[in-house]
Amino acid sequence: MRQPRILVVDARGAAGLPYSSLVARLQPMDLRVERSVSGAARAIERDAWDIGIVTAWEADEAAPLAAVVRSADPELPLVVVDAHPTVAATRQCLRAGVGDYLELDHAEEHLEDAIARLLTAARRRDAAEVLRRAVERPYTFEGFLGESPAMREVYSIIDRVAASSVDVLISGETGTGKELVARALHQRSRRANAPFVPVDCGAIPDALMESEFFGHEKGAFTNADSRRMGLVEFADGGTLFLDEVGELPLALQAKLLRVLQERRVRRVGARQETGVDVRVIAATSRNLDAMVERGEFRRDLLYRINVVRIDLPPLRDRGDDVGLLAEYFANRAAQEMGKPVSGLSLDAYQVLKSYHWPGNVRELQNVVRRAVALTRSATPDVEDLPDEVVAAAGRGLPAADGDGGFFARRAEHVAKFEKQYLAELLTRHHGDVSAAARDAKLPRGTLYRLMKAHDLDGATFRPK
Ligand SMILES: Nc1ncnc2c1ncn2[C@@H]1O[C@H](COP(=O)(O)OP(=O)(O)OP(=O)(O)O)[C@@H](O)[C@H]1O
Ligand SMILES: [Mg+2]
Repeated sequence: MRQPRILVVDARGAAGLPYSSLVARLQPMDLRVERSVSGAARAIERDAWDIGIVTAWEADEAAPLAAVVRSADPELPLVVVDAHPTVAATRQCLRAGVGDYLELDHAEEHLEDAIARLLTAARRRDAAEVLRRAVERPYTFEGFLGESPAMREVYSIIDRVAASSVDVLISGETGTGKELVARALHQRSRRANAPFVPVDCGAIPDALMESEFFGHEKGAFTNADSRRMGLVEFADGGTLFLDEVGELPLALQAKLLRVLQERRVRRVGARQETGVDVRVIAATSRNLDAMVERGEFRRDLLYRINVVRIDLPPLRDRGDDVGLLAEYFANRAAQEMGKPVSGLSLDAYQVLKSYHWPGNVRELQNVVRRAVALTRSATPDVEDLPDEVVAAAGRGLPAADGDGGFFARRAEHVAKFEKQYLAELLTRHHGDVSAAARDAKLPRGTLYRLMKAHDLDGATFRPK
């Protein structure tokens, strides 16, 4: 974490202060001493500060000095050190929003604590502010929530390619919003009033696939007792959404390629082909390039559908979007369930932010809905989150704020602590997990999950 930046406003220049030794102790922090109020005001205007310390050497000087500094930045947390403390001055300063008022004689004792306390308060306030902003004006785009750079990039591509009829391949982990992208592309095209036909390529039995896609004539095969239109024809004028396109069997891939190239279909059992005007949007959570290398997906089909590619970022790479989505899902769930719940606690939000979200937005949505359903308070807290999420969030898995961020650093420390704690606990109980769980006052299942998460095996703690 970066050093806090501290601005000291002190007419005598901190050198001669009784608390100069203390100021010296603060030196590793990023400290600047200004000898005049006007100098301080300039410094406040030019740079960002985390804390201001104002020293009043004259009687009745504290409150006016503090007021001038605060007018330069009303948000700056301030500590006033007064050489002539009075009850009146204390009251005036605190009423003016000064964070702490210290008597010069006791400053040495209390200054460090005061600074630490104000810094913590400011950090909490900043985090809360992020949350509040997220709730107030969520950035939305065709049903998407999220304002991270990664998602803005996605919106921008959708915006550019939607109107043209160009075919698009959407790739992304499960639950990242691939279907939402496909629908947005359709909505923003001139095809919006024609059908959007989603096809789950993994869900149709191989035997039925050809007739599902291309339709059939009456009597084309046993059971074909009437003519039937296929999905491709059904999407005529609109958009055909091939979800999990990697699941298509090779034989059908070849037939589909022909349709895409010729824009014509032939129903099973028909002699004539029919022209179709469809836009194809394909989605995959698998690596199609690797499948091509293994001969499981046709290279020519990949080229054909990969005209424009949209890669959806996993949720863990979307920074503050996690908080924004969590708030939104919590409020919506509360409304649906008729529970007087709003948002999530700051701690719960921090856990969510440190988790790695293998199931992405869908998983977040489920976790938050569950928390709203379970909670007994007005703001769901950490105890309302699944054990796995809480445990994994502390395990040092990549945190949403990336290397060096607060949550990432905290996750590292928690993970280290957990592993050491578990090892000591298991050693003490000679690898007896039940006894260890009782001792730690944890449910056995939770302890097991934690051990598994840290690759610890009870057997290795048993005496040989
Ligand atoms: N950015 C977002 N804002 C709001 N809701 C979202 C966002 N992304 C996804 N969702 C919601 O999350 C859920 C999953 O999205 P979607 O079905 O589009 O994902 P997918 O990538 O198709 O997942 P799968 O690979 O599992 O099919 C849906 O309920 C969707 O509305
Ligand atoms: Mg999907």
